[in-house]
Amino acid sequence: MRIHLGADHAGFALKESVRDILTGLGHEVTDVGTDGEDSVDYPDFAAAVASAVAGGAADAGVLVCGTGLGMAIAANKVPGVRAIQASDPEMARMARLHNDANVITLPGRHIGPAQAAEVLEAFLGTQFEGGRHQRRVDKIGALENGNGNAARG
Ligand code: RB5
Repeated sequence: MRIHLGADHAGFALKESVRDILTGLGHEVTDVGTDGEDSVDYPDFAAAVASAVAGGAADAGVLVCGTGLGMAIAANKVPGVRAIQASDPEMARMARLHNDANVITLPGRHIGPAQAAEVLEAFLGTQFEGGRHQRRVDKIGALENGNGNAARG
């Protein structure tokens, strides 16, 4: 898969390991930074990765900040992005299976490379189930387009 990867200063160290993990799994990785531990603003990196996913330049996105939470909030502001924070492989698997998540965010200050590898393998190795879940994902898209009535219908 073509994966765009980004982090802020709090996620930088784990991002460096994640790049090796993803490459080792055979993925094509584009690292959008950050490139060190100087303080930066996580929405800038969330925007770069989320835009690549929404625009089709990437098949999936991986973002790392201290908690993964700010990155998820920011990435989900980009239409077409379904970002989830996960530090547990089963949650990552379910986010693909039922929610067709296309961006995963990791808590760089709370998990290490071994756990990140398990979470990423679960996320990237699981296909969306479709069926009734497609209808629900479509309703998320309707909400995103300001069409709450369609989402309720
Ligand atoms: C940076 O200190 C921290 O706030 C950020 O990495 C992230 O955890 C925000 O959600």
